Amino acid sequence: MIRKYRSEDIEALKEITVICFDGVSIDQNMEKKFGQFADTDWKARKAKHIDADVAANADGIFVCEDNGNVVGYITTRIDPESKIGGIPNLAILPEYRGQGLGKALMKAAFDYFEERGMVVAKIETLDQNPIGQNFYPRSGFTQVARQIHYAMPLADRKV
Ligand SMILES: CC(C)(COP(=O)(O)OP(=O)(O)OC[C@H]1O[C@@H](n2cnc3c(N)ncnc32)[C@H](O)[C@@H]1OP(=O)(O)O)[C@@H](O)C(=O)NCCC(=O)NCCS
Repeated sequence: MIRKYRSEDIEALKEITVICFDGVSIDQNMEKKFGQFADTDWKARKAKHIDADVAANADGIFVCEDNGNVVGYITTRIDPESKIGGIPNLAILPEYRGQGLGKALMKAAFDYFEERGMVVAKIETLDQNPIGQNFYPRSGFTQVARQIHYAMPLADRKV
């Protein structure tokens, strides 16, 4: 069942985030290269994305429930000026994947964008995420850019 996010879902969404973004997280990539460089690790930083998504647009978060348990979610942003609806985060717990739940959440987000007058939907995925690169074109998205993320410990600066 897909339903709107409720404030009591927040810890479940954070737990799902930490499980699901293992292997597909820029923060984790940085930690793999440089080691843990802050008091908090990539999991804590990635979980904070949920706080940001809730603060920015709690109304546009949809969760997927199984027997009363939240097993996945999608977060969104809307921008009435640009008419671009954004999808910052989307996750389904591993044991619930491959059953169409991600697609159902994507549909909920698209319906929400249309209700809110958005004209274009936007999503990003990492090169290391083969599921995203399959899922998004199959949902109708077309590639408009590729981006490279660079990072370095400041101890390595050359300028
Ligand atoms: C992306 C994710 C939410 C998909 O959830 P899901 O419930 O398994 O998705 P669905 O079953 O609805 O499948 C949707 C589409 O994803 C693609 N897909 C799903 N599993 C796949 C796999 N193992 N390999 C390649 N493509 C796959 C397919 O295109 C599928 O559509 P199809 O059935 O018409 O072929 C889930 O894999 C996930 O949480 N991944 C980790 C977090 C993540 O990568 N989030 C997105 C960040 S950009």
